[in-house]
Amino acid sequence: MNFDKHFLTYDKYACVQKDVARDLNQFIPQIKVNTALELGCGTGIFTQHFLNKFSPRKMILNDYYDIHSFLSVPYDYFLHGNIETIELPNVEIIVSSSVFQWIEKLDALFLKLANKCQTLAFSMYIEGNLNEINQHFDLALEYKTTAEIKILLERYFCSVKVKSASYKYYFNQPINALKHLKYTGVTQVKEKSSLNKVRSFSAKVLTYKVGFFVAL
Ligand SMILES: C[S@@+](CC[C@H](N)C(=O)[O-])C[C@H]1O[C@@H](n2cnc3c(N)ncnc32)[C@H](O)[C@@H]1O
Repeated sequence: MNFDKHFLTYDKYACVQKDVARDLNQFIPQIKVNTALELGCGTGIFTQHFLNKFSPRKMILNDYYDIHSFLSVPYDYFLHGNIETIELPNVEIIVSSSVFQWIEKLDALFLKLANKCQTLAFSMYIEGNLNEINQHFDLALEYKTTAEIKILLERYFCSVKVKSASYKYYFNQPINALKHLKYTGVTQVKEKSSLNKVRSFSAKVLTYKVGFFVAL
């Protein structure tokens, strides 16, 4: 993941992350929220949707990178660091959009989060995501299925609501599809691939598969 290099271009190229953030926010039932924590807030795309809908009294933001100076959304506290290892505060709801696909020990993270909140709501990329890239570059990116993620959540939460969605994005040239991936830090295609592989990439469409989860 090379998100740190691309904060300044992220918002311009993050079409899928914007659609996913909007749809995650709609998927979360309207509840009264006093305290909220967002994990992997990035430039605050999901944060803005969440603040508009829930108006929490206290909003804590986290990211792996210390990007608080890039944020234009209001918040009470910025917690810098890796969510797998840092201490997290107790809040009513933990939210996260387009982040958990990077987590290797998802089971351990769900256990940790279940002890910190009443509601966990998130979106993440699932099996079948970016098949055009997987096939051409033979990357074998590992994504879980919604069923696998639901089973993990049910170990620590009583009720789990799930939805999946597919998003297609069209580009005028294949190179622009690769640029979109590069500038959103989604995958390190260029660094791992020969120039010939990059040049022979011919897809003008990218398909994202996304899972939405609300666990109580
Ligand atoms: C694709 S961006 C999504 C940003 C934002 N949530 C959105 O919807 O636009 C992924 C974000 O998760 C952060 N991230 C990835 N792994 C993380 C971890 N282990 N701990 C904290 N943040 C993490 C990255 O730094 C990046 O800001």
